[in-house]
Amino acid sequence: PGKRGAMKRTHRCGELRAEHVGARVLLQGWVWRRRDLGGLIFIDLRDRAGTVQCVFDPERAERAHAVARDWRAEYVVQVEGRVVERAPDNVNPRQPNGDIEVVVDEATVLAEADTPPFQLQEHARATEELRLRYRYLDLRRRPLQEALALRHRLALAARNYLSEQGFLEIETPMLTRSTPEGARDYLVPSRVHPGSFYALPQSPQLFKQLLMVAGFDRYFQIVRCFRDEDLRADRQPEFTQIDLEMSFVEAADVRALTEGLIVHLLAAAGLPAEPAFPRLSFREALDRYGSDRPDLRCELELCDLTPLFVGCSLRAFASLAGSDGSAIKGLRVPGGAAWGRGRLDRLVEQARAAGARGLVWLKHAAGGYSSPVAKFLGEPLIERVAEAAGLRAGDLLLLVGDDWEVAATALGALRRSLAEAEGWLQEGMRFLWVTEFPLFERDDEQGRLVARHHPFTSPLAEDVALLESDPLSVRAHSYDLVLNGVELGGGSIRIHRRDLQQRVFAALGIDAAEAEQKFGFLLRALSYGAPPHGGIALGFDRIVMMMAGRSSLRDVIAFPKTTNATDLLTEAPAPVAAEQLEQLHIRLDAEAALGPAAEESDSE
Ligand code: AMO
Repeated sequence: PGKRGAMKRTHRCGELRAEHVGARVLLQGWVWRRRDLGGLIFIDLRDRAGTVQCVFDPERAERAHAVARDWRAEYVVQVEGRVVERAPDNVNPRQPNGDIEVVVDEATVLAEADTPPFQLQEHARATEELRLRYRYLDLRRRPLQEALALRHRLALAARNYLSEQGFLEIETPMLTRSTPEGARDYLVPSRVHPGSFYALPQSPQLFKQLLMVAGFDRYFQIVRCFRDEDLRADRQPEFTQIDLEMSFVEAADVRALTEGLIVHLLAAAGLPAEPAFPRLSFREALDRYGSDRPDLRCELELCDLTPLFVGCSLRAFASLAGSDGSAIKGLRVPGGAAWGRGRLDRLVEQARAAGARGLVWLKHAAGGYSSPVAKFLGEPLIERVAEAAGLRAGDLLLLVGDDWEVAATALGALRRSLAEAEGWLQEGMRFLWVTEFPLFERDDEQGRLVARHHPFTSPLAEDVALLESDPLSVRAHSYDLVLNGVELGGGSIRIHRRDLQQRVFAALGIDAAEAEQKFGFLLRALSYGAPPHGGIALGFDRIVMMMAGRSSLRDVIAFPKTTNATDLLTEAPAPVAAEQLEQLHIRLDAEAALGPAAEESDSE
């Protein structure tokens, strides 16, 4: 090795501490911050471990000082020098190593850097779009470095835990057939089979069931899944699951194993253990919280006021109170009697946006009750309603009458947004299980039945007899794990008998021919000795997001996509060359090929 150039570093910048005082060090890293003070230059040098202050003194090291004079932010540099204690006046208590610095005598540039498109120290001023375009620069920031380090620790902890519990990690195909998880598929055209497509897996659901048929007993995989669906802060088109499946188990066994895994992950994240995993049925979760993923950090619950309105003179409520499947639900807003008209109007709008036909409010102010429907209800009924809802002077009551699920979820949406806006959320992590989901729901668009979880979920044994006569009342043998209002995972006990699977397909309107064509391989597997089995998949990105205390998945994924599913860094998706399309036997629709801009001007 020559006199300079790439020599081996002795330490990471951010790991230097007072204990290293006196040591001679060679450091390599990025220029984070620089200050010129009279003759002295101070450079904070950064690497994955953090930063350390380096001092260049023209009197002591003229050449190094001259080199450092040209350094700008994000240059990659190498320094050699000695670690010294800082003078008491210069100690920075906000930095873990603010009591030391490196006095530099040799300095080299390893790579120059253009001025970054945004200042890493003031990233918040840059748009997210710009930061995603230059993701490798944004990733240099501490919070993102820490989030990805946490992600690594959690993945490792999950692997270790599951491995100790006797699980084998087995890979399943990425190029496969569509598995119905309720989203659209990403398709991959086949060159060798003109007109045929692979689907990227929405989950490894069917493969993990086949692994149980194959006798693997306990499978897991930290696996990428792909879903072409509308995106939100907690949804990405490709995301990662901790996916697992177990043979010869009950739902309670899968839940207990999952709780053990979560406790283990909390420990790996350095978070306090959360021993309580209460369980609510879907029905109860909706009744009490208006959500199948309730946020238990807020204690306020909905109330059911339906019986009070039977025969009342507010016609809309009276008819709802008298009809099956409808409900009049209430949400008490402590202190809400002081809210003005504008605020109440906005709540009505919000309830409508959440699917309700309307929202009625009732104030209990010092001077008595007020409500737009007061004269229809009459004082005695108002008092009974207020009492049933636990209304106190100063409170507001929000009422929604509708189909039971609509009324509950509309108020649940208000509960959620008010809890955040009004600061009703307590600290901490509140887990719960939601069980006994309906097996089916009606597809809005076509009115057909679709599986709420997926079509391989077993009905509860006591409801199997209703599959043909009253399918919407059949409950699933399923469970969702919820944390602070976020669905962390979902799973179920599966159907392991061919005849039952065929009955469920039939209820879903999948006839024998279609079942054979799409799921023949599964039905055959079920007739060659399938063990009873069940499992769960946890959203790994969501777990990391929650444990890192973030509110967007983009903060815990190295290279995430935007809400319209583009990767701004590589600019995917992108058009491909005509000959590539030809090899794939694909001809584009002329309008689509011109891109979205052309479509827009067309539609004018
Ligand atoms: P499910 O569809 O409920 O179940 O998915 C399991 C968990 O994966 C996470 N998740 C997502 N995370 C980020 N972005 C997305 N687009 C996204 N979609 C889902 C959620 C969810 O709870 N095969 C079944 C599991 C089983 O039955 O064992 C399945 O995939 O946290």
